[in-house]
Amino acid sequence: MSTILDEIRTTVRAQSPVVYLYSSEEERVLRMVGTVAAEAGAEVRQWSCVEGLAGCDRDATTDPVAALQTVIREDIPGFIVFKDLPPFFSRPEVIRALRDVYYAAKGGRRMLVILSADLAMPETLKKEVHLIEVPPPESEEILQQLTDIRATDAKYNLPDEAIQEVAMALKGLTETEIGHVMRRVLQHESATKEELVDEIFHEKKNIVKKSGYLEFSPPRYGIDGLGGLENLKDWLIKRRRMFTPEAVAAGVPVPKGLLMMGISGCGKSLAVKVISSLWEIPLFRLDMNLVFSGIYGSPEETFHRALRTIESVAPAVLWIDEIENALGIEESGLTISSHIFSSFLTWMQEKPPMVFIAATANRIQALPAEIIRKGRFDQVFFCDLPVAEERVEIFRIHLARNGANLDDFDYKMLTVQTEGWNGAEIEQAVISARTEAYYDGRPFSQRDLDISIAKIVPLSETMEQQIKGIRSWAFSRATPASSFGRRRR
Ligand SMILES: Nc1ncnc2c1ncn2[C@@H]1O[C@H](COP(=O)(O)OP(=O)(O)O)[C@@H](O)[C@H]1O
Ligand SMILES: [Mg+2]
Repeated sequence: MSTILDEIRTTVRAQSPVVYLYSSEEERVLRMVGTVAAEAGAEVRQWSCVEGLAGCDRDATTDPVAALQTVIREDIPGFIVFKDLPPFFSRPEVIRALRDVYYAAKGGRRMLVILSADLAMPETLKKEVHLIEVPPPESEEILQQLTDIRATDAKYNLPDEAIQEVAMALKGLTETEIGHVMRRVLQHESATKEELVDEIFHEKKNIVKKSGYLEFSPPRYGIDGLGGLENLKDWLIKRRRMFTPEAVAAGVPVPKGLLMMGISGCGKSLAVKVISSLWEIPLFRLDMNLVFSGIYGSPEETFHRALRTIESVAPAVLWIDEIENALGIEESGLTISSHIFSSFLTWMQEKPPMVFIAATANRIQALPAEIIRKGRFDQVFFCDLPVAEERVEIFRIHLARNGANLDDFDYKMLTVQTEGWNGAEIEQAVISARTEAYYDGRPFSQRDLDISIAKIVPLSETMEQQIKGIRSWAFSRATPASSFGRRRR
């Protein structure tokens, strides 16, 4: 059965007098409360700031304090659901009246339920109020809803074998959203499984877009566009089927996350983008600068909300780029980032398995040790500067992308010229060669590349010491992303 229903049942058995059900799904949660109440042979009453307390004089009970006092005075039993309470928490009388309800509780005859889409637990009531976050419908509930829709809509023509996949794609949406999506798609007489799944993902992207700080990154980058880094690519290829319904049904453990650290410009961010195309699950980038900006509320709350939002669109990849900026403990903003950091670690430990974290880090020494410790990420890769063979691959990728004829170039020569270069610098050399040649109205050649290469000063020259430091730091802490391992160049 539904785990959330079980959690509510347990709370009833524990005789908690005041429970806070945090959910935007009023109807669904009311139905759950109804189910539990029926099992207990108890009644359900509702309060709203417009209707007052059901069964009482409306005008006398629209005020929350009056309503709460009525509950105590008349010793109302059963489940009493307060629907609009959190906006009133700024009034001390409301907090007091709630506390009075808590202490007036006798032997579990009554449960006061605060039902709200806002999470605004008053600090002073944390001990008294039992908080339950109600997740969106679980697989079983979704399957049930699909079956119901199927029974009522004669046009429903989704084959049995597609139902599991559709249900999985619907995961994370609320019951209402599921209803909307299904009704929209069922309007087309012959909706295929693919159309249905597409529509569902479209809906999910809209939900995330509304958040502002999570950005959808389209699956545009194939694994063939990533040169070198064979160990990393192998790892990704081996896990490409892990998020499919078949793998989940078979109980194959789903990977939790990947941390890629190393020298900048070596393809870490690009590798993250490759994951979503390869695994065919959507990728969302969390903009930590926006989280910290305060535009969306306190950074901690925003971060928490972001994690919940991403859970709601799972299966998904959550990309935290340059994680050290968000989680590194630095003097400035010490408390905020360390709070966020610890809640992130907890979330990583408990998070639903269908969210895959892809984190990248450049200033790796800034990373706290806990994050690298085994168990958080499945794998920690170190991306070093590409060796000669890898540079050839990267050259070929960018030359091809820029419309050059691959046979026109001397790769031996190019690798000698680009000793110690990263992928971004190679790309830059190719692009500027192409730009020069285009200006002259001719195809670009080895000679154009020679010139552009001579103009670029690679990072490895200007940051030699830092790179040495990064290498020796990473040596004992991470697996080389390159199959050429720790070979020195
Ligand atoms: N291994 C690589 N293969 C192909 N292109 C690369 C590679 N490394 C870097 N590049 C090019 O350089 C750009 C910047 O690299 P990026 O992934 O942002 O590096 P990082 O995140 O490690 O700093 C990429 O978008 C890509 O065009
Ligand atoms: Mg990057």
